[in-house]
Amino acid sequence: MFCSPHRLLFLGAFSLALGCVSPSALAAAPKKPAARPAAIKPATPAANEAPPVALVPANIDNEKGKDINEVCAACHGKYGQGGKRGEYPRIAGQRLTYLKDQLKSFRARQRINIPMYPYTQERELPDEDIDAVSEYLAKIELPTQWPEFKDSDDALTRLEAMDRVMIIPRAEGDIENGKSIYQKECYTCHGTDGRGRGRFPMLVGQYTNYLKKQTDAYRKGERPHDEKGNTGVLNLLKEQDIQDLLAYLTSIQNP
Ligand code: HEC
Ligand code: HEC
Repeated sequence: MFCSPHRLLFLGAFSLALGCVSPSALAAAPKKPAARPAAIKPATPAANEAPPVALVPANIDNEKGKDINEVCAACHGKYGQGGKRGEYPRIAGQRLTYLKDQLKSFRARQRINIPMYPYTQERELPDEDIDAVSEYLAKIELPTQWPEFKDSDDALTRLEAMDRVMIIPRAEGDIENGKSIYQKECYTCHGTDGRGRGRFPMLVGQYTNYLKKQTDAYRKGERPHDEKGNTGVLNLLKEQDIQDLLAYLTSIQNP
């Protein structure tokens, strides 16, 4: 199991796997359980007499996507929550079109990544499988608040529910500056709330280390960002501005 920032152990009380969780992540964890049970929503709205949300397995209706995801889970985690502090990005709840585009782009070697490549080769991942696994992943909701448990919930149930909680530790930086740049330069594509849309990825709720690595790759021209190659919006920013943007993104996780 990975030691990731959102991973906590449940041992009768909330005991924390220290070293995995930053003080800011701790601050984000309420002392009392959250008022509202944090939800992995069932994929089908019809399932409204489902048991309490914390107990519902994600996306039971897409068996094919679920099966494929077992391979991905080795790196990206069972719920697509990523791991190793963003060495493996979160892919759960990412925009559907974006997921498909990226998988095709890895497969075509347009986006170069050695760990991902073998899993996206044509024989491993034809288009139908890309569609299925992307649909499965896009529907997984990772709560940003600690779940509320009933006395009857056993330790495993609690552990699994806690595993899905995704709280990115606050990044250092000038949030006000980050906000003003974001709301000027980024929101048109990535959304005012940072949750993306269509082919524009969600940035909020993604590991800071991973986002930093991607902005570096864009700035060096190793990964194309928008149409402009490495003369685009990210290249016009100072290093500190990027840091401030990342800080801002970690400050708006809870709508
Ligand atoms: C051996 C480890 C490994 C496996 C297995 C793996 N991935 Fe990845 N994946 C990575 C790494 C590492 C990255 C980050 C690449 C980078 O830094 O640019 C990544 C990136 C991604 C991205 C891009 C995320 C983003 O925000 O742009 C998607 C989508 C993705 N993987 C989906 C999958 C799917 C679906 C599977 C299973 C079919 C899978 N991965 C299997 C290691 C893996
Ligand atoms: C004109 C639209 C547009 C604007 C404006 C824009 N982006 Fe993007 N962004 C994209 C697209 C498209 C992608 C996906 C690129 C790809 O396919 O690799 C992306 C990807 C990203 C990623 C990688 C996400 C991941 O999961 O790998 C980061 C980080 C990012 N953008 C940051 C920003 C920031 C910060 C700003 C503002 C300074 C910004 N973007 C403005 C279109 C835009």
